[in-house]
Order: sequence, then structure tokens, then C-alpha cells
Amino acid sequence: MLAMAFILWSAVVAVVASSPLGSVPELPGTWTYRGCYTEGSNGRAFAVQEPDSQDLTIQSCVATCIAAGYGVAGLEYASQCFCDNFLRNGANLTDDADCNMSCTGDASQECGAGSRLSVFSNDTIVVYQPPTALTEDLPGSWEYYGCVIDAIDNRVLPWMSIDEQNTTIEACIAGCSRFGYNAGGVEYGYQCFCGDAQTVTTSSEADCNIACPGDPHHLCGGGDRLSYYQWTGSNLTTWTHAQGIAAGSYDFIMSAPLLPLISVVGINEKVVFVEKHGTQVYDNSSGSFEFDPTLAPQYGIAFRELQLKTDVFCSASLVLPDKAGRQINIGGWSVESLYGVRLFTPEPGLGKNGTNDWEEDVSTLALLDARWYPTALILSNGSVLVMGGENGSDGPVVPTCEILPRPVGVTASTYLDYLQNVEKINSYPFLAVLPSGDIFFAQYNEARLISQTDFSTTRMLPQMPGAVNNPESGRNYPLQGTMSLLPQSAPYTDPLTVLICGGTTDGANFGLDNCISTQPEVPSADWVIERMPSTRVVTCMVNLPDGRYLILNGAVNGRAGFGLATNPNKAAVLYDPSKPVGSRMSQLASSTIARLYHSEAVLMNDGRVLVSGSDPQDPINPEEYRLEYFSPDYILSGAPKPTFTIQNKDWAYGQTVPFTLTSTFTGAVKVSLIAAVGSTHGNNMGQRTIFPAFSCTGNACTVTAPPNAAVSPPAWYQLFVLDGPTPSRSIWVRIGGDPASIGNWPNLPGFTFPGV
Ligand SMILES: *[C@@H]1O[C@H](CO)[C@@H](O)[C@H](O)[C@H]1NC(C)=O
Ligand SMILES: *[C@@H]1O[C@H](CO)[C@@H](O)[C@H](O)[C@H]1NC(C)=O
Ligand SMILES: *[C@@H]1O[C@H](CO)[C@@H](O)[C@H](O)[C@H]1NC(C)=O
Ligand SMILES: *[C@@H]1O[C@H](CO)[C@@H](O)[C@H](O)[C@H]1NC(C)=O
Ligand SMILES: *[C@@H]1O[C@H](CO)[C@@H](O)[C@H](O)[C@H]1NC(C)=O
Ligand SMILES: *[C@@H]1O[C@H](CO)[C@@H](O)[C@H](O)[C@H]1NC(C)=O
Ligand SMILES: *[C@@H]1O[C@H](CO)[C@@H](O)[C@H](O)[C@H]1NC(C)=O
Ligand SMILES: *[C@@H]1O[C@H](CO)[C@@H](O)[C@H](O)[C@H]1NC(C)=O
Ligand SMILES: *[C@@H]1O[C@H](CO)[C@@H](O)[C@H](O)[C@H]1NC(C)=O
Repeated sequence: MLAMAFILWSAVVAVVASSPLGSVPELPGTWTYRGCYTEGSNGRAFAVQEPDSQDLTIQSCVATCIAAGYGVAGLEYASQCFCDNFLRNGANLTDDADCNMSCTGDASQECGAGSRLSVFSNDTIVVYQPPTALTEDLPGSWEYYGCVIDAIDNRVLPWMSIDEQNTTIEACIAGCSRFGYNAGGVEYGYQCFCGDAQTVTTSSEADCNIACPGDPHHLCGGGDRLSYYQWTGSNLTTWTHAQGIAAGSYDFIMSAPLLPLISVVGINEKVVFVEKHGTQVYDNSSGSFEFDPTLAPQYGIAFRELQLKTDVFCSASLVLPDKAGRQINIGGWSVESLYGVRLFTPEPGLGKNGTNDWEEDVSTLALLDARWYPTALILSNGSVLVMGGENGSDGPVVPTCEILPRPVGVTASTYLDYLQNVEKINSYPFLAVLPSGDIFFAQYNEARLISQTDFSTTRMLPQMPGAVNNPESGRNYPLQGTMSLLPQSAPYTDPLTVLICGGTTDGANFGLDNCISTQPEVPSADWVIERMPSTRVVTCMVNLPDGRYLILNGAVNGRAGFGLATNPNKAAVLYDPSKPVGSRMSQLASSTIARLYHSEAVLMNDGRVLVSGSDPQDPINPEEYRLEYFSPDYILSGAPKPTFTIQNKDWAYGQTVPFTLTSTFTGAVKVSLIAAVGSTHGNNMGQRTIFPAFSCTGNACTVTAPPNAAVSPPAWYQLFVLDGPTPSRSIWVRIGGDPASIGNWPNLPGFTFPGV
């Protein structure tokens, strides 16, 4: 009898290590008793505690853990059930007799005891030793600094993200440095913090005592304690704080009779402004004026009032590639305005009084769909693409696009699932034709390539990163940042780069402090993140003649909309893509004027930037009628502007066109082409910078037009010739003609058209 009992006992040991005091019920699959374990030394043995139960049994706890997807269950102190996939913190197998408390739901079963766990599993138990600080094999140039004191009301680092399941030190700090922050750390196990390195107070290492949920071997801070890391390599981002001439300057011009929300520099060098009309605070403007900069500051003369029949509030504008460089304005704010298509011929030239006015008749020329906040784009075939918008004031998104002039036989717009299905309502999507022939499209935090033929998606791009702690960030209206294309240079073999700066997080609307860029035609390309010197939303970006970009206007936080942006960001920033990533930005001069929602900036032909508007409708910042010029360094240098002449201002693709230098050049000659833009809400419709091939023998030069309509869709360009850093005045040239015969459109009463 005794011998037999001994044999049985041996057999049991061979299968299950130990046997419990109480009974073990039938359990699913390979689940069985694995022993009585102590709690961990430096934290609990299990990561997940289920609710206490007064009916706890072994089978109920095991069922709970299986349902939650775990392979190990632990029962403690009669009524507590824990789940995990392994034991943590060096929990030790101990005497079965220690687990001697009856389960609350079945007195015949034992459910651990104080600090003792009856452990069940579908597999052999793996025990992890107590975690230690992660100090080796860190990503990049990160180094462990120590366990640092933090406080909820006085955080060491500002940006927190939470991942209760998967937080690891590596993922946290790699995210911090990707977004340009040189300090990072984890607190309370799962709170990842990023920011710039601060003076910190270290605590006892023992105070950082919580294992990382995604890495139980390592410590992720403690209560009010950060496992704190610093980037010790070369600076992730360096900003120049430009001084003197290099900082540029803002100079007051005069007050305007309107608050422009769209500005377009015409091929007559005058600027057409369009404003929100009808709901204006001071409703004494028709909604549009033409500004002759040579007549400033003569109030009443510098501005010529134009008449509109419908309300252009938050419409789209473009300069058409017809031979007159007509301007088109599309969509609007309510009722029939939503369908508006308006045309304006920019003539005569500077100093001469014009008589031309907006032409529109919504009864004969109208969109197929209502569009408030649409985007417009000239396609490679010369037609105008009109996309998206909202169906009236704060109405639902209009998930369609349409073509102007409307192709024969077309009676309905084209449905676009990606406009309908986006997670957050947004409009004024960013669009640009790429040399590959596809269109770059971005909305909210997503980007894709779409076809120029049917506008369907040809390839998704990686999601656009937003804030380091919040991917729910947007880049176009209303979480509004601004987009441009980086310069395209002959022979146009380098992939084109898209640059998007600023924006804001959804919800709390924290302004974003980065620009992101990608080469959308390179299949594996991800987004590169560059820290800006400050956060920016409702901001603008202007392509300068030398290939640099001026980022200006906007707010520190908030979003687009009336009363929704806070703290003006008055400092201009220069982005110079000829410098290495991470050191491309310099902080320039600050304006004294707050430019928030509905502010604008456009490049004038003398290389200055015309800055206008701000319609915050908040109790703090004024409705802003003042106009300013921003003069970059190349203006303030006082260097004489180089001059040139050119006869042929209507270039075919690939054509070589002669021009003549008519001043003495002392620096390197450079030629640039800056496409006409319809600028609104950070969306520079039509924007593009090209450095074409050119050559000079003495003063006799030639320039070669870009090769095709994918590299440069039909458009008007400001042609600049630079002497070293100093641009000439621009001369407007047209490239690619008018293949869609827009010049013959619309052949309707009340409209004039230039012909082709
Ligand atoms: C487990 O046992 C080892 C060796 O005796 C001991 O060092 C460790 O502290 C024990 N762990 C716990 C959680 O008590
Ligand atoms: C135990 O359960 C876990 C969680 O469901 C599962 O992932 C694992 O594959 C199972 N192991 C065995 C040996 O069945
Ligand atoms: C369980 O075991 C502990 C330690 O051996 C002992 O102090 C305690 O009295 C026991 N409790 C019961 C209910 O048997
Ligand atoms: C954690 O990682 C798992 C597996 O990779 C994933 O399914 C889960 O969504 C992640 N959790 C979070 C909060 O990211
Ligand atoms: C790197 O950053 C530090 C701290 O902000 C600064 O003092 C230093 O000048 C920077 N180095 C360069 C090369 O800009
Ligand atoms: C518009 O009208 C308001 C009040 O009616 C007046 O104070 C303001 O000066 C006018 N603005 C312009 C630009 O004429
Ligand atoms: C333009 O019109 C204004 C007022 O309407 C007038 O004062 C001015 O002389 C005109 N200028 C020219 C160049 O005709
Ligand atoms: C816009 O709303 C109007 C009025 O509700 C409706 O008739 C029209 O079909 C809508 N248009 C689109 C494109 O959703
Ligand atoms: C340009 O392409 C669009 C999209 O395929 C098409 O609807 C339109 O008719 C084309 N325009 C011309 C002038 O062929």
C-alpha cells in the first residue's frame, strides 16, 4: 500500500512538479496546476488583476484568463484572480502547503494565500527576474541618465503618450528622437514622455520599480518617477536665429479695405484679394478688391473694388493657363454661392486703372456639386480639377470631384471613397501633380497617390506623423498647416519632395512643431520629421525665388475657424532645403501684427512677400486690415537687382528660349520659375518651384523649358534671374500653353474669353 502510494506520487511529480492542498477541477486543454508561487520581489508576479470575486473558483479564474487571451492564471488570497503569459519579478516556486486559503466560491479548492499564488497554466511556467534599468543597446545616441523625480503638476517633459500594453523604453525614446526631442523617458510603466533636455533631480534607483508592459525585463519608471534618457549625439535639430539683414524685416504698407482670405498675384502684377463677404463684421466691402502695389499707400486709389454676385467665402482660386492669365474662383459659402464659378481677367498693368470685373452667372455656369472649402488644381492636360469641400456651412463633406471646363457629355461628378471615408471631416485637401503623372493627395493625417485619369487611389503613402504624442493630428483645414513642393531642378531626375509644415492635433488643438516631408514617388519613402522652432497652426508658406521657403503667420495653438486659434505666432521662419535635414530652419524677424485665421502671404515680382489679413473674430485679436511686406535678406542687402529681357513669354515644353542679361552680374547666374498660386488657408493652389536648365555666353543666355506636363502642368510662372543671392524682378511666362482650350471658355452671355 505504502509502496504503491509512493509510485503514484513519483508519477505525479514527473508530470506536474507539485500537487495542491485542495482539489483541482477538470480544466480545458493542457491547463493544469503548476505550483504555489510567491509574489514578486520588486512588483507583482502578474501584470493583470481581474476584479475580486466572492465566488472565485479555479475554473472561473482560468476561464477569465482564457477569455482575456492569457496562458497563465494565478489565484491569491481566496478571492483574487490574476492573468498573464509568464510570471514576473522573480516569483519563486514555494511549498504547496503555503497556498492554503480556500477559494471563496468552492471551499474544497485552494486559492493561494497572502502573497502566495496558486498558479495554473496551459504550458510550463516561465519566470522573469526583476527588471533592471535599460542601459545598453539603446537606439541612436540615447543614454540612460537615471531615475528622475517628476510631478503631475510640474512635469519634467511636456509630451505624454500612453500605451498600457506595449510600452518599452526603446520605442518611447526612438519616438522622441524621430520627432526631434533630445530627452525622453517612461513613468508609471506606460507613460512615455518626450521633450527637450531639462535640469532634473535624480532619485534613488530603487524608486523606478515598475516593469515595462512591453518589456518585463526592464524598468519603466515608477510613481512620480521617470526612467530618464538623453540624446547625447550631435543635436537633432539646430535652428539659426538670424540677426540683422539675415532676419529680414516686416514693413507696414497701408490698410486694406478688406480682410483677404484668398490672394492671387495676377500676371499684371496686381493682387486680387477675396474675402468673406456677407457675414463680415464691417460689411462694407463687395468681397473682392484689386490692389495695385505701385499706388500704395494711397487709400481709395491703390484698391479697386470688384463686384461679385455670390459669396466667395472659402472658395478656391487659381490662375488659369489661358493666354490672358485669367483668374478663376470656385465654390463659396451658401445657397447658389456654393456652385459659383467666377472669372477675372487681370488687365491692364500697374499704375493703370482697370475696368475688368469678376464675371459670373450661376444660372449658366455652375459646379455640379455644392462646394465650400474645395481645392482646385490644373491637371497635366490643362483642365481644372475641383475636389471636395463641404455642402454648405459646416455641412457634410462633398465626396466628389469634377472637371472644368466640363467635358462634353459629363453630367455627374466623380465619387471619391477616400473623401467620404476619412476619419475626421476636413476640406481644402492638399493636391499636387507629380512628375510620375499621379497626383499627391493629403487630407487629415493620411496621404496617397491618385490617378490623373479617374482620381482613384494608386498607392497609399505612410500615415503623416503629427504630434509626438498624438497621431490624431491634421495638416489641412481645419487642423490647418501648409504645403509646398520643394524645388524641381533640371534634368528633373531627382524625386520630387513634398513639404508640409504645421497643423494641429485633433481635440485639444495643440499646434504642431514640425514640418514633414516625403518623396511620394519613391515606393519605400517614409516621412521625415523636422522640428520647427515653435508650434504653428493656420500658417502660410511662400516659395521664394531662390528656392527657399518663408513660413509665416498663424497661431501657436488652436485650429482654423473663428475664435479658435490662440496666441499669434508672429515670428517668420525660413526653410532652406539646400541645407541638411535638421538644420534647414532659421528664425527670422517677427511682425508686430497678429495674423491668425484668414491671413495670407504671396510672392510679389520684386521678391518681397505681401502679408495680409487676419479675421480671428475673437475677443483679443483685432480684425486685421493692415498690409505688410516681408523683405527677405536678398532685399535688405541693398544689392542692385539684376535685370534681363526676354521676348518669348509663351514657352512650349522642352523649348530653348533666348534671354539677355542687361545688368552687370557679379555673382553666379541662376534662373528660377515660381508658379502662380491661388493662396488660401495654407493651401497654395498651383504652387511649384523650378530651376530650369540655362546657359549664358556673356550676356546672351538661353533657358530650356521643363520637358513635359507631368514635371510642370500648364501654368504661368514668375521667371526670376538671380545674380548670386539677389533676384531680379520677375517676368511672367507661360509654359505648356492651353491644351484644354480654357481660353475659349465659357462661351456664354456675360463672359469674355481670350481665345487660345
Ligand atoms: C526567489 O529566490 C531567490 C533565491 O533564493 C531569492 O534571491 C529571491 O529574492 C526570491 N524571490 C522572491 C520574489 O522572493
Ligand atoms: C496557451 O494560451 C495562450 C493564450 O491563449 C496561447 O497563446 C498559447 O499558445 C497557449 N499555449 C499552449 C501550449 O497551448
Ligand atoms: C496557512 O499556512 C500558514 C503558514 O504555514 C499558516 O500560518 C496558516 O495558519 C495556514 N492557514 C490555514 C487556513 O491553514
Ligand atoms: C500592442 O501590441 C499588440 C501586438 O503587436 C497590438 O495588437 C496592440 O494593438 C498593441 N497595443 C497598443 C495599445 O498599441
Ligand atoms: C546644440 O544644442 C545645444 C543646446 O541647445 C546648444 O547649446 C548648441 O549650441 C547646439 N549646437 C549647435 C551646433 O547648434
Ligand atoms: C467699414 O465700416 C465700418 C463701420 O461701418 C467702419 O468703421 C470702417 O472704417 C469701414 N472700413 C473700411 C475699410 O472702409
Ligand atoms: C484712376 O482712377 C482714379 C480714381 O478713380 C483717378 O484718381 C486716377 O487718376 C486714375 N488713374 C489713371 C492712371 O487713370
Ligand atoms: C447638398 O445638400 C443639398 C441640400 O440638402 C442636396 O440637395 C445636395 O444633393 C447635396 N449635395 C451633395 C453633393 O451632397
Ligand atoms: C483631362 O483629364 C480629365 C480626367 O481624366 C478629363 O475628365 C478631361 O476631359 C481631360 N481634359 C482634356 C482637355 O482632355
